[in-house]
Amino acid sequence: MRRIQFPEHLVWGAATAAFQIEGSPGADGKAPSIWDRFTERPGRVHDGTDASVACDHYRRYSEDLDLMADLGLGAYRFSVSWPRVVSTPDRRVNRSGLDFYDRLVDGLLERGIRPFATLYHWDLPWFEQQCGGWESRETVWRFADYAEVVARRLGDRVKHWVTINEPLTVVAAGYVSGDHAPGRRRPLHAFRVAHHLLMAHGASLQRLRAIVPEAHVGPALNLFPVIPRGRADVRLAERIDALVNRLFADPILAGRYPSPVRRLLSLFNWTLRPGDLDLIAQPVDFVGVNHYSHIIVERSWLPWLGFRLARSPDPDALHTDMDWEIEPRSFLDTLTWLRERYDNPPVYITENGAAFADRVEADGSVRDEMRRDYLEAYLFMLHRALDAGSDVRGYFVWSLLDNFEWALGLSKRFGLIHVDYQSLRRTPKLSAHWYASVCRTGGFGLPESMYRSLLATALDDSLDLIEEHQLKGATT
Ligand code: FCB
Repeated sequence: MRRIQFPEHLVWGAATAAFQIEGSPGADGKAPSIWDRFTERPGRVHDGTDASVACDHYRRYSEDLDLMADLGLGAYRFSVSWPRVVSTPDRRVNRSGLDFYDRLVDGLLERGIRPFATLYHWDLPWFEQQCGGWESRETVWRFADYAEVVARRLGDRVKHWVTINEPLTVVAAGYVSGDHAPGRRRPLHAFRVAHHLLMAHGASLQRLRAIVPEAHVGPALNLFPVIPRGRADVRLAERIDALVNRLFADPILAGRYPSPVRRLLSLFNWTLRPGDLDLIAQPVDFVGVNHYSHIIVERSWLPWLGFRLARSPDPDALHTDMDWEIEPRSFLDTLTWLRERYDNPPVYITENGAAFADRVEADGSVRDEMRRDYLEAYLFMLHRALDAGSDVRGYFVWSLLDNFEWALGLSKRFGLIHVDYQSLRRTPKLSAHWYASVCRTGGFGLPESMYRSLLATALDDSLDLIEEHQLKGATT
């Protein structure tokens, strides 16, 4: 066995999001969100489920806090539901909604778990959508007001804040494919939405800093390598990379939009207002990185940018239950890219994990070796990135619990802890027991053979890797 040991300062956590776990959509004066409305529409959620109960965390949070303590988590990343906190169209603050997060934060601190609060994990109040939602500039200031309310209530105890979770997914799934709430297919409006989300990040950061001067604030960006399917797709991959990764990272970390985006914006005769980029580019305390896999792109004659996602040409490639390729090397490449391109910013891995079709065995156990292997491989790459100098401060598994996976409903299980959606019984999986020991000891042991093969993958030159990958495609 080889021991992979992390520096002591690294914080070990797990993450969730309000809409995916809480349930109780109408409790204590909560207003509906765009996701409540979206999931009511037939056909929107693939397995026909909704999140009205989900993990029932709103009522069972104290049991969940005990489970976190059993895991030995050093930190917990949760999201605050905006429509629980601001719940009427005239934007009145709903004390009882805030009380829930107050109790949650106290419960975390009592157990020695550091709270990381996300302000926007996709559940926009429905009344804000009716006023234009993220297509409207006004929503930026509404969001900042809401952030201020939350900061005033929790800021004495919460010192780590994530502003916006995965603005790319909001834009791509909410406004281009229409697979997520609010279910729009308006690609021409996508940049406006992206710009407003970026501004909302900056505006909320400013309010948080004013109220909680010692706060650590950052966005959570989903970052991933964009791999060309063939040699002819290299330029395409660069363009897509600008639209998915740099569209958000460049304005926040470098104060400008990437050049392909600037060109596109000028085509639409769309100009930024003075001061917008200054708001967006205020220094962050960290970059939250959500990372799962890479994407492979190839040219196509499909409308909108002329590309499509390709499957891995490697016949041996492994995939999770989301059909996302298991590609730990991508994690290392993403962290290297971030370090080199943006001058080594402090990083928290705000999400990383995998869905598998787990089931409870007759003896009551859940043997998710695949998830443990996935986490081992990705953490190995994280360890390499740290060795190479990346300033990573913490790591959060997605997710603490199996939960409502947006348009895929209850069918995809990402949890360290299994949830039976009938009885709501929680069962820590094998991966949870394994992760508990990582939290306790700050590392894990790898069988020699696995260590060697991961090391070989980590040491390979990434260009060689891409070519090898393409070659495999050519011979199959
Ligand atoms: C991310 C989301 C998170 C969860 C995971 C699987 O894109 O931030 O809520 O759905 O993917």
